[in-house]
Amino acid sequence: MKFSKEVQESPTLSLAEIARKRKQAGKKVISFAVGEPDFKTPEFIIKATIKALKEGYTGYSTPQGLIELRIAIKEDYKKRYNANYSEEEIIVFPGAKAAIFASLASLLEKDDEVIIISPYYVSYPPLIKLAEVESKIIEIPLRKDFKLPIDKIKAAITKQTKLLILNYPNNPTGQLLTKQEVKELVQIIKEKEIYLLADEIYDQLIFEGETFVSFSGFKEIKDQLIIINGFSKAYAMTGFRIGYALANKDLVKKMNLFNQNTNTNTNTFVQRGCLAIYENDKGHLATYLKQLQKKVNYLDKQIKTIPYLTGIKPRSTFYYFVDISKTQQGSQTFSKYLIERHGIVATPGKAFGKKWDNYLRLSLALPLEEIKEAVKILKTMELKKTIK
Ligand SMILES: Cc1ncc(COP(=O)(O)O)c(C=O)c1O
Repeated sequence: MKFSKEVQESPTLSLAEIARKRKQAGKKVISFAVGEPDFKTPEFIIKATIKALKEGYTGYSTPQGLIELRIAIKEDYKKRYNANYSEEEIIVFPGAKAAIFASLASLLEKDDEVIIISPYYVSYPPLIKLAEVESKIIEIPLRKDFKLPIDKIKAAITKQTKLLILNYPNNPTGQLLTKQEVKELVQIIKEKEIYLLADEIYDQLIFEGETFVSFSGFKEIKDQLIIINGFSKAYAMTGFRIGYALANKDLVKKMNLFNQNTNTNTNTFVQRGCLAIYENDKGHLATYLKQLQKKVNYLDKQIKTIPYLTGIKPRSTFYYFVDISKTQQGSQTFSKYLIERHGIVATPGKAFGKKWDNYLRLSLALPLEEIKEAVKILKTMELKKTIK
């Protein structure tokens, strides 16, 4: 196996480890690092998973995923996005990450170019290189106002371009695309005959007054489209390891071969647990989204009063990508200082692309009281001491 330089330890996971060690040593930690929601997996999902275990869903299952779950996903996509997928065009994986990897491994060939947008989900570069080490990653940064530079994407597409990866709702900026932007992108995908992998894993974490437009509703690019989604973020099921992909039949067939020979299948009882979501969910996210919105509103207001920080208010997800350029320090130096001096853990922007060294990602998966405590520290700390 060839390992390229892109294949490294996930920086978000290693930060979480520093935080864990500090906590273990009895020191105060306020962690903005972890990319998972701060509510418990809804009880009805736990119950359905336990029930499935007791009912004997403990053996191998269809590699592509339990038919009843795929039908439920199909109906959900029809209902929410007016998307027309059959159960043959849906495949279940042990996590959205595994679904992304199988998509890349099924699609990419030597010398193919893959366009990714920075700041990117930290796993995209290693996943691309693990899938096809001789592929080429073309990185296009968002504009300073976090708008997607669609003209630059269009200009970057060459004969070698196989795939564009987009992640909206976006980790780490929390931004969304407008319907007009989505339409423009659909047109480009169609015209240029490339694939689009749309990672829409945060599609249910949308703030009041905002609209999310899924690429799944655009039939004209269905054959060129891979939709990635999962249960980790909306249902606090990160440890269950389950996600899925929607794509054309040929691609799903390839992905299924990949899955069959690497995972066999996703945990059978976990799949049954997820089925309960489609049968029983009584809107568990409403309360969480209200709390999240409160935290985002508070933090956004505060950040704009701290002289050396600034930011653009997120419209979705639980992330806030903060501009730290006025500190005149790199994101790694500043985040190291924050952990070591004040026990505040935040992910350095550099982890999301080398152009983003003037940013920190704050994940708001912590209580409002702790956010308030951190803001107090940020307001009063002496910045000069951090400059080396
Ligand atoms: C954009 C994005 N895609 C995929 C994933 C992976 O999700 P899963 O835990 O389902 O593998 C994450 C997790 O942080 C993410 O932020």
